[in-house]
Amino acid sequence: MQEYQARIQNVLEITLSNSDVPSRLLEAMKYSTLSGGKRFRALLVYAAGLAVGAPLQRLDSVAAALECVHAYSLIHDDLPAMDDDDLRRGQATNHIKFDEATAILAGDALQTLAFELIASAKSGLTDAQSRSISLKLAQASGSAGMVGGQILDILATQTTLTREALENVHRRKTGALINAAVTCGALCADNTSKNQHQALSDYADHIGLAFQVVDDILDIEASTEQLGKQSGADQALGKSTYPALIGLDESKQLAQSLYHQAIDCINTISDNKELSIDDELNNNPLSLLKELAELVVKRSY
Ligand code: IPE
Ligand code: IPE
Ligand code: MG
Ligand code: MG
Ligand code: MG
Repeated sequence: MQEYQARIQNVLEITLSNSDVPSRLLEAMKYSTLSGGKRFRALLVYAAGLAVGAPLQRLDSVAAALECVHAYSLIHDDLPAMDDDDLRRGQATNHIKFDEATAILAGDALQTLAFELIASAKSGLTDAQSRSISLKLAQASGSAGMVGGQILDILATQTTLTREALENVHRRKTGALINAAVTCGALCADNTSKNQHQALSDYADHIGLAFQVVDDILDIEASTEQLGKQSGADQALGKSTYPALIGLDESKQLAQSLYHQAIDCINTISDNKELSIDDELNNNPLSLLKELAELVVKRSY
């Protein structure tokens, strides 16, 4: 994981060194993109792509695009009009460090940068790959995906949703982009079977929902220092969360069960593949996908 975390950091640093961008805007874009984070979505792009034989270099632009959309979603999520948070990744949120207008614009610019990265000839993607990846990322991050989930999250504030409705919010606001990371990684390969693609997408859906369930749990159980963001923020705002609806214990059981379902999806891929000695030494992209599923449920921030 560390190898790919270092790799994406380097790719993002190069990506965000465009001297043609007004310096205050570039500074704000860099502030929220180069400031760490787990790089979970980029890691998923690499792991899923490598699992189906995509060349590593072709995954860089797609991994960077996912992190740009993610960073944009965090900047906007923290705005006063949304969750109104002051702390993110252990430092002041973008609108506190800069100002609201700059934060909104930095988010806008990161979003379009993501699609520029995918469309650029430098990506090494074929035209068909570039088109299918753009489409997937647009759908997952847009009005029927992440942005759609964010409005449902806002509308659900101070209300109690049914379990079905809450699952819908979480699958959209967080699950959709996690699915896009995995499926866009897989789309970088020259040929994947329908079964492989489906298994990866199902894996992503399980960990995508688990990711937000665990985020809700950590908001209650972890400290502000540990999280690098304000703990207890959901309850303070009256957010609809899994622990609020079904309790902490049942939320933890749900996360575990989703984790096991995700692992089963990966096992169906490895069952259909001849494993080499390297693979058996646990040094293969499928084990990385399993490790990433484990990270979702075992993480402390
Ligand atoms: C936080 O995402 C926002 C959610 C979707 C819950 P991450 O927990 O992946 O944030 P970073 O990138 O590691 O800071
Ligand atoms: C965020 O959900 C989902 C996004 C699309 C950014 P949260 O609002 O729970 O994320 P945090 O807790 O602020 O990171
Ligand atoms: Mg939010
Ligand atoms: Mg938030
Ligand atoms: Mg949260």
